[in-house]
Amino acid sequence: MKQEDSSSEPRLHVSRSPALRGTVRVPGDKSISHRALLFGALADGPVEISGLGLGGDNVSTMAALRALGVPIQQAGTDVRVQGVGLAGLGEAASPLDCGNSGTSMRLLCGLLAGRPFVSTLTGDGSLSRRPMARVVTPLRRMGATIDGQQADARPDDLFPPLTVRGGALRGIEYELPVASAQLKSALILAGLQACGRTVISEPGLSRDHSERMLRFFGAPVSAEPERRCVVVDPTGWNGRLRAGPVSVPGDLSSAAFLLVAALIVPESDVTVENLGLNPTRTGVLDALHAMGANLEIEVTGQAMGEPIGSVRARWTGRRLRGIKVEGELALRSIDEIPALAVAAAIAKGTTEFCDLRELRVKESDRIACIARELQRAGVTVSEAPDGFSVVGTEGRPSRGGRVQPDGDHRIAMAGAILGLVAVDATEVPSQDIATSFPSFARLLQVLGAPVS
Ligand code: S3P
Repeated sequence: MKQEDSSSEPRLHVSRSPALRGTVRVPGDKSISHRALLFGALADGPVEISGLGLGGDNVSTMAALRALGVPIQQAGTDVRVQGVGLAGLGEAASPLDCGNSGTSMRLLCGLLAGRPFVSTLTGDGSLSRRPMARVVTPLRRMGATIDGQQADARPDDLFPPLTVRGGALRGIEYELPVASAQLKSALILAGLQACGRTVISEPGLSRDHSERMLRFFGAPVSAEPERRCVVVDPTGWNGRLRAGPVSVPGDLSSAAFLLVAALIVPESDVTVENLGLNPTRTGVLDALHAMGANLEIEVTGQAMGEPIGSVRARWTGRRLRGIKVEGELALRSIDEIPALAVAAAIAKGTTEFCDLRELRVKESDRIACIARELQRAGVTVSEAPDGFSVVGTEGRPSRGGRVQPDGDHRIAMAGAILGLVAVDATEVPSQDIATSFPSFARLLQVLGAPVS
C-alpha cells in the first residue's frame, strides 16, 4: 500500500447519481505525455508540448529530466522542453524519484543504460514492489550494468531502487516475455544508443506510441506491427531527434471512467472530446460495444500519427450484457479493466476477464483489488490466477461503503464510479487519483454527479 490509511487523507464522497450530461475534455494522455517529455529532451532544439498530462506520473518524468540537465519551462499544460540530445544529458546530483510511475522508471532505465554516468532510480512503496528484471535482463544483455534489490518472496526478480551504470551498448535481438510497451520503449531507447541493430518482438502488440512519436521526430525506428516487431538501427544517425511541436490528445484511459459512468447511470448522455484513439488503446471501446453499449465514436483528425476524436456514451435502458474479455482485447484494454469491471458489475450475465496476469503487478494487484471492491459492493466475483469473472447484478444497485484503493489511482476511480449507482453513500480515499487524472472529481461534478 502506498500510504497508510489516516483520517486526514483527502476523500471523495459519492452518492447515487442523477443523469450525467455534458461534453468534456480530459487531461492529456499519460503515456504520450511521458514520451513527449523524454523524446523532447533528446531533440535538437526546443519542443513545445501542448495539453501535457500533469498527473503525478508525468510530473515524475519531468522532474527526472530536469535533474538530468534538461531545461523545462511550464505554463499550465503548455510545456517547453529544451532538447539537449543524448549527449547533453548529465549525471543527476541525487536519486531520480519516479514516484508511482512504472513508465518513468522503465523508460528512464533504457535511456540511462547508454549514458556514461551513474543514475539511481527510486520510487514509492508500490513502485518498489514492481518487477524490474524484465527490463534489466535485456539491458544487461546489451552491455549495461544495472543493479537492483532482491526479495525473498520473488528471488528470480529485481526491484527498485535500481542503479544504472551506463556505457557502451550493443544491439540485440530480443523476444519480450510479456507484451509490454514499457519494456519495448526501454529497449528502443537503449537501441538508439547501441552499436548495431536492435530487433524487439513481443507476444502481442502493446501500445505503440513510442514507435509513432519517434518516427515523427525522425529517429531510426521502424515498426512491423503485423509481426509485432520493432527494428532500431542507429547506424549513421547523429543521435538527435528533430524538434517540432507536440500536441497531446486526451487520455482514453481517464475518459473510460466517465464513459462507463454514463452507461450505467440512468438517462445519461456524455461526450468526451479530443481523445487519443490509437487502436492499441481502444480495446475498452470494443469491449463496451460488445456489451451492447450505445457509443458514437468519431475520428476527427490525427496528431503525430495518432488518431484523435470524440466518444459519446448514452444510457439506453437496455442492459449491458456480459462478454469474455481475453487475448488481444484484454491487452488493448489493460489499463481500463477496472472501469470495465464496473460495467460488468451492473450488466446482465457473467463477464469473464482472462489473459490478464499482468494486472497482478500493476500499481496494485488489480485482480485482487477489483474482486475485493466488487464483493464489498455486493457483487459476486471469482478470482483466477490470470483474471476474474463478474456476475452482473442486472442493474440492482450496489452497496456503498468505504473503498480501499491500495494506493492505486484506477481502483479509487472505479470505486467512485460504482458509487454513482449504489443505494447508499460511498467514500473514496482520493489522494492517488492525481497520479493520472487530477480533475476526475471536478469533471464528474461538471457532468452533474453528486461528488464532493
Ligand atoms: C504504459 C504501458 C502499460 C500500461 C501503463 C502505461 C506505457 O504497461 O499499463 O499504464 O505508457 O508504456 P506495460 O507496458 O507494462 O504493459
